[in-house]
Amino acid sequence: MKLWKGRFSKEASSSADEFNASIGFDQRLYREDIQGSIAHAKMLGKQGIISEQEAELIVKTLGEILQDIEDGKVEFTVEAEDIHMNIETILTRRIGATGKKLHTARSRNDQIAVDIRLYLKKEISTVERILTELLEALEKLAKEHVETVMPGYTHLQRAQPVTLAYHLLAYYQMFSRDRERFSDCLGRTDRLPLGSGALAGTTYNTDRDFLAEELGFSHVLPNAMDAVADRDFAIEFISCCSIAMMHLSRFCEELILWSSAEFSFIEIDDSFSTGSSIMPQKKNPDMAELIRGKTGRVYGDLMSLLTICKGLPMAYNKDLQEDKLPVFDAADTLKASLSIFTEMLLTMKVKTENMERAAKYGYMNATDAADYLVSKGLPFRDCHEIIGKMVLYCINKGIALDELSMEEFKSFSPEFSDDIYDCISVRSCIKAKKSKGSTSFDSVRAQLAEIDKNKGVSY
Ligand code: ARG
Repeated sequence: MKLWKGRFSKEASSSADEFNASIGFDQRLYREDIQGSIAHAKMLGKQGIISEQEAELIVKTLGEILQDIEDGKVEFTVEAEDIHMNIETILTRRIGATGKKLHTARSRNDQIAVDIRLYLKKEISTVERILTELLEALEKLAKEHVETVMPGYTHLQRAQPVTLAYHLLAYYQMFSRDRERFSDCLGRTDRLPLGSGALAGTTYNTDRDFLAEELGFSHVLPNAMDAVADRDFAIEFISCCSIAMMHLSRFCEELILWSSAEFSFIEIDDSFSTGSSIMPQKKNPDMAELIRGKTGRVYGDLMSLLTICKGLPMAYNKDLQEDKLPVFDAADTLKASLSIFTEMLLTMKVKTENMERAAKYGYMNATDAADYLVSKGLPFRDCHEIIGKMVLYCINKGIALDELSMEEFKSFSPEFSDDIYDCISVRSCIKAKKSKGSTSFDSVRAQLAEIDKNKGVSY
């Protein structure tokens, strides 16, 4: 029997019931729904809207229902449509008329809004924790590879030598901004919609501040129409997920490249790789590829919710029932991707000699050679041209810059002297970087020290 049956003279068709129902996916909000209802019942009792005894009975029974759901003893029905009406139906079946009083001064519109906010508050904390684990893994690896030299790329062409620690710390910065973004998003999610009614507030003497306190919300949303119609916080959450997935995906792309025979910079552990059903020699970086692929799904979730909300007139519209699928999917996908990525990172083998060898070839010391001439008083633009010609000469000869004889150096510029050889060695190139935030060994140590110092700063 429908809870809203009064105005209707006909039963809904079973196909309409099926189409209308959200219980298939919103049942995972049962804890939040019961938590919200318990707070609401307590508030109704405290305010004398229902009696204290009625409130107590409702609270007690909701606690029992929660336990029964956790023990797998409860079956939800499509007929009761969504998690809210399923739980209310069970409550009323257990305690009769008193159960029917729970929905006084409340609408499913403020109920679902509070459920999603409660759910997302928890999810955000979990994501922050998993992101912190990833940051710790990056920090650990970076500490191990302060001296590991590798090529730095632009346009995927060898550009200037860097260290692996430096490269890892670039990702550290990206993921720590992700954590900051989630923490900002938490601030806007942490606002209470409950007590707004359907859209216009209620006629009862409710206490929304009490509800906020009971449910652990820092603020009460000031406008009831906004409170039931707004899904910005959910869009923002998926947007944070999308950006974090994008960072993961970039990193995965590098791990995929680095584990190819062409790069051979790392080897992903067997426990995070898969084989081919036909080619016996294959070892594939499937986890990294899947994260890259799932990033597309999470972008889809963001686009989906943005589009669901676009064009919705005030206030609640049933379209909003569709918000949960992308929210759940984005949260689940990000959490799983972050966890597997961290494990993969901590178990992969770094082939430091291959990285270092790659850093020695590719004329990545050309900028440093130009800087050498600048130090002898030549304008940078002229130095750039001289070294460009030298690189071309070396390419044709098939040698590296530091394999030129002193005579050859001098033929390009009389300013060259013996110290050029030391100046353009890979390690010298790295060491010579002086600007704040550079790849020099000292700068990377300073970056690590800064990270250490900021530990304990709560996000
Ligand atoms: N199942 C609905 C949702 O997820 C709950 C709110 C329904 N409200 C309504 N007026 N039909 O959005």
